[in-house]
Amino acid sequence: MAKPSIDELIADLMRRNDSVVPPPDSTQYQKQHDKGKLHARERLELLLDPGSFFEIDRFVEHRCTNFDMPKTRAPGEGVVCGGGTIEGRPVFVYSQDFGVLGGSLGEAHAAKITKVMDLALKAGAPLIGINDSGGARIQEGVDSLHGYGSIFVRNVRSSGVIPQLSLILGPCAGGAVYSPALTDFVFMVQGVSHMFITGPQVIKAVSGEVVSEEELGGAATHARLSGVCQLAFPDEKSCLAGVRTLLSYLPQNNLEDPPARECGDPLDRRDPELRSLVPVDGRQSYDVREVIRRVLDQDSFFEIHAEFAPNLVIGYARLAGLPVGVVANQPAYLAGSLDINASDKASRFVRTCDAFNVPLVTFVDTPGYLPGKNQEFGGIIRHGAKLLYAYSEATVPKLTVTLRKAYGGAYIAMCNRDLGADFQIAWPQAEIAVMGAAGAANIIHRKEIEAAADKEQKRREKIEEYERLFSNPYEAAKHGMVDAVVEPEETRPALARALLSLRGKRESLPGRKHGNIPL
Ligand code: HXC
Repeated sequence: MAKPSIDELIADLMRRNDSVVPPPDSTQYQKQHDKGKLHARERLELLLDPGSFFEIDRFVEHRCTNFDMPKTRAPGEGVVCGGGTIEGRPVFVYSQDFGVLGGSLGEAHAAKITKVMDLALKAGAPLIGINDSGGARIQEGVDSLHGYGSIFVRNVRSSGVIPQLSLILGPCAGGAVYSPALTDFVFMVQGVSHMFITGPQVIKAVSGEVVSEEELGGAATHARLSGVCQLAFPDEKSCLAGVRTLLSYLPQNNLEDPPARECGDPLDRRDPELRSLVPVDGRQSYDVREVIRRVLDQDSFFEIHAEFAPNLVIGYARLAGLPVGVVANQPAYLAGSLDINASDKASRFVRTCDAFNVPLVTFVDTPGYLPGKNQEFGGIIRHGAKLLYAYSEATVPKLTVTLRKAYGGAYIAMCNRDLGADFQIAWPQAEIAVMGAAGAANIIHRKEIEAAADKEQKRREKIEEYERLFSNPYEAAKHGMVDAVVEPEETRPALARALLSLRGKRESLPGRKHGNIPL
């Protein structure tokens, strides 16, 4: 038989392509749109630089022989995989196609995903997974479970080597949630994303509890309550744009520095508003995000995990055009105290920054750990220890600014000199002490106060005495625990100078298999 001509071969290729790639006006797209969702391919178009996507494994097919699977066609195996660029930098992607067997994950579907995971790791480029799936493909039994296992182990092996981002843009249930949970960032969209280990029906059957999908595993729930989701968005477009923004602060891998940008904001900009922004009276609150915005490069602050543990603020920003990770107590909530969730939130972030060579800038204004039975029973000791651990092991440049209160263990936990702050400055109203003046005076002068004829007068005297001695930054400065006391408006120039000086910081920890962070 004569071999086909190149034109015939190309026509055959086109037919095969058409049978896998649905046209944008097809029912596959329409079904997704009817649910208020985008199609797997539309998502990639919005995520990646225009025209940069290249697909791999388009023609992969399942080999399942169970039930009616031999007769079931699953174009692309229900997942679109490949690579592309974001702001010109390579990334690898997979995007599950709910229109093909509910985006369910079988052996071949998983093999497509693990192939791009391996490529991302070898190339030292970020991996972005778009999850929209009914979970393990039921017809494939243990092969589906094996598929998930092979993804999980790669998530772990890539952890701290390349950034891994998970977008939940549809259902993500059962054990399937654990791949996103193992990655660095989880993005969700209100009304579109649903993540849970056991869904509403199982919960109703087991405990009789009635709960909607949105309440149980929607974006608001995971952004506010569980903390599983770092970034929640009102729609898919803003979510995909959020991925591009986040990656602009991160290096391609652990061996690179994060990308510097031209800094249009003068390094010696002195903002006089900072003087009045933080009230000297420690009982008055303010929004620390305003301090962050005024000190760091203009419009560079990108807050993450905003709704979870709002008593502590984290996010990426730039200083002198260089990406930094910001950790700050938020006096507007719980007076900026550290609790279980805030400790978890900050520790995870500090470790993420350290893994990817992002310097840390910490703003301190905290009365200490949150007192209470709930906190003690919930393990504040175990969770609080994570923050000490994370800061102590971080070897990136660490800059700390004490704005006001820095009491007790929280003074240490918020990256003080002992935990390795390379540059520690304090504002003139900073109070660095074992505890607040009133509490301290009542403990160490109790007998004297009780014996006094005018107890209140004596108490005031003793409080004032304590304040003169400890409620200022100079005692710490005298002991070299604070490098400089600066006027608020000098903070930006001081931090910028320090960061630029520390750019070449090299520090390594003793060799070991791995540390044992209190999980
Ligand atoms: C095979 C599946 C599937 C699955 C959905 N489909 N999930 N096929 N395996 N897991 C198919 C449906 O049969 C249907 O096919 C099509 O996808 C669309 O599904 P619908 O149910 O019509 O869609 P919708 O009404 O939007 O409901 C979505 C859904 C529901 C809520 C996700 O499909 C569902 O509950 N699926 C099962 C979820 C689940 O229990 N998965 C296992 C989780 S445990 P047709 O041909 O009719 O269009 C798990 C373990 C992982 O994943 C373990 C890792 C260690």
